[in-house]
Order: sequence, then C-alpha cells, then structure tokens
Amino acid sequence: MTRESWGTRFGFIMATAGSAVGLGNIWRFPYTTGEEGGGAFLLIYLLFIMVFGLAVVMAELVVGRMTQRNPVGAFKRLGGGQWPLVGMMGVVAGFVILSFYIVVAGWTLAYVFLMAHGSLADASPANLEQVFGEFISNPIEPVLYAGIFMGLCALVVAHGIGSGIERASKIFMPILFLILIVLVVRSITLPGAEEGIRFFLIPDWDKVSTNTFTAAIGQAFFSLSLGMGALITYGSYMPKDHNLPADASMVVVLDTSVAILAGFAILPAVFAAGLSPGAGPGLTFITLPAVFAAIPGGQFFGILFFILLAIAALTSAVSLLEVVVAYFVDEHKMSRRKATIMVSLICFGLGIPSSLSLGVWDAKFMDKGFMDWMEYLSVNLMLPVGALFTALFVGWRLGPKAIKAITNEGTLPVPATGLWLFILRYLAPLGILWILISSLN
Ligand code: TRP
Repeated sequence: MTRESWGTRFGFIMATAGSAVGLGNIWRFPYTTGEEGGGAFLLIYLLFIMVFGLAVVMAELVVGRMTQRNPVGAFKRLGGGQWPLVGMMGVVAGFVILSFYIVVAGWTLAYVFLMAHGSLADASPANLEQVFGEFISNPIEPVLYAGIFMGLCALVVAHGIGSGIERASKIFMPILFLILIVLVVRSITLPGAEEGIRFFLIPDWDKVSTNTFTAAIGQAFFSLSLGMGALITYGSYMPKDHNLPADASMVVVLDTSVAILAGFAILPAVFAAGLSPGAGPGLTFITLPAVFAAIPGGQFFGILFFILLAIAALTSAVSLLEVVVAYFVDEHKMSRRKATIMVSLICFGLGIPSSLSLGVWDAKFMDKGFMDWMEYLSVNLMLPVGALFTALFVGWRLGPKAIKAITNEGTLPVPATGLWLFILRYLAPLGILWILISSLN
C-alpha cells in the first residue's frame, strides 16, 4: 500500500500550523506573558523561536520526509542502534500529553455552552472563579466533555491524512484566523485598552529572571509542537518536491502570529476591564469571562472566543493522536481505524484520573496532583529530551545528508544551511540542556 500524502502545499501548511496553533497559543501564551511581565517575555520568546524554533521544526520535518515513517520507524531507518528509543519516547509523550490536553480542551467546549446559556454573564471575577472551580472539580461533567472531544479527534484521524486531517485543517484554520481578528479588533478598541497594549509591547527588564528564559523556551517548543515527533509524522506525509524550508518558515510565522494576536485579543481587554493579567491558567476561564460580562456584545464575543479555543485545540490534539496512530499503523500493521479507536480509548482512560485529580481525587505526590505530574513529565522532561536528541541526530548523525534533503538534492537555493547545522549541533542542544537543568531545580 502506498503511503498517503498531503494533497497540496496549502493543505500541508494548514495541517501543520493546525498542530502548532493550539491551547499553547491562545490559553498558555497570554497567561504566561501575563505572569512573566509582558513585553520582555515577548521579545525573549520571539528570539528563541527564531534561533531554536525554526531550526528544530526543519529538523523534525526532514527526518519524517526522508523516511516516510512514524518517529520510531524513522529513527530505526536512519539511525538504528538505540535511536528508535527517542521515537518511542515521543510516542509515549504523545499518549500522555493527549490525555490531559483533552481535559482542558473539554473545558473549552463546556464554556461555549456556558457562555451561550448566559450563565457567565453578570458575574464578578470571584463568582467566576467559583464557577470554574466547581466545574473542573465535578467528577462527571468535565470527564464527559473530554470524552466528546476525544471522539471528535478520533473522527478526524480515522479519516486519514487527506480526507481527515488535511480537510479539517483547511476548513478550521481560516475560520480560526477570522475569529481571532474579530476578537483583536474588539479588544484593542475598548476604552482603556492602551495600557494592555503597552504592557504587551514595552519590555520591562526589571521583571526578567532566569525563570523568564526557561518559560520562554519551553513555551516556544510546546507551541511549535516540537520534541515528540509530531512534525516527524507530519513530514512523513510530505511530497519530496515541496520546498521544506519555505513551508517550515510559513508554519513558524503562522504559529507566532497567532500567539501574538491572541495576546492582543486578551491582554488589552483584561486591562480595559481593570483586571490583572497575572491570573495564571485561570486567565482564560475566569478573568476573560469577567471581561466578556463587562463589555458591549460580550456574550457574542465570548461564545466566539471559546469556539476559537476549541477549534485550535482540536487540530492540535489531532496531531498528537496521529503520532501514536501512525506508530501502530506502520510498526504493528494495524488498520488506521482500529489503531485510532484503541489509542483514543486508552487516552480517554488516562485522562479520567487527570480530570478527577482536580476535584474528588485530591491525592498529592510530592506536592503535585496526577494531572500536574502528567504535564510535568511530558512537557518539562520528555519534550526537551526529545528535542535535544532530535537536534543532535540531525546535526551530527545526518549532517550534510540533511542539508542535501532540505535542498531537494541541491536543487533549491536555501540560505544559511551551515548556520542551520551549527544551531542543531551546538546552540539548540546547549539551550535545551539549560532549560532541562533549570527546570529540574
Ligand atoms: N502545539 C500545540 C499547542 O500549542 C500542542 C501540541 C500539539 C504539541 N502537538 C504537540 C506540543 C506535540 C508538543 C508536541 O497547543
């Protein structure tokens, strides 16, 4: 059977940008920027995207395209020895990340309905905090929403690359952009928005600490879907004649633009409503509904916002599921349908304790609940380790062969290929090692 591939360049870019653009951009980025002091964080984040982000995105895509395999098969084919373990860790990370990603994504679905129902209108931030707390600690509802979300994801992935993931992304990503633009216009035209714009754009270097750097680099990798072979898998469906560096740059630009636009959609509105941007993860679910309750047309924009979040989360979760499904299809010769159903059920099962750990099951292991552990192990440990080995692999093991592959055997003029290898060999490994060490402390 021949391997499926993306139908068009546009389709590939939408699908890959769909993977990158997710809760990371619209939920995590604005609240992390809020916590880390605004403009200075933004600049450091942009620097890391340009130095490390693009280089590692290209590295993952090229490994996928050279081998046309899932991450385990790809490392087996090009590296042999112990290298497939890097791919295996990616597949495990995919399972783990997806299991809690669907929980948060489920909240966004629930909030579409809560907004539409009007139960978040006229509420004070204190009330909204209570609404949110009661919702996520309920043992049934959030689990059901996570299940619904997992089902939607499975539906897309079961249809395969072209008529599943590519088609869904080509429809959803442009909608997402439109909704985001509408929200940005609403936010920056509110009276009092300037203060938020200033907070977002003007660096205040006094607020920068080592933590700002580790938060920025971690955010950059998570946002670009790096470190677990999602882009190896997406690259494996990429036709050999595509211009990989150009497409990779486009994806990075889109992902970064959405993060910045999400910042403009959220931070000025939060300031205009006289609230604080430093609310942490609750910014989207507590602070923002308070903003929507306070502004003209708030209910409409609120519904739009949570639909936006759910769409972004769906195309990202699809890429996490696809990595694991591709592994079972390629390496264990399972049918796509069967692999999708099996993996989705297991992920949902693993998501249940995550959701319950925010309510009825409040056991803590070393200060962290179950969901915190899942997030910590996958995002703070497996992803950086995966990205580290991928950079070393492409930089040292493949070296000039990788350059040959990204230039389509020397037929494409690609600038700065030497710099690319230099980053993969030295800068990225050192940078990643540094986040790992500081996050372990
Ligand atoms: N990038 C997505 C986001 O910003 C999340 C995501 C999807 C991801 N696939 C990934 C993160 C693979 C790390 C690895 O929400």
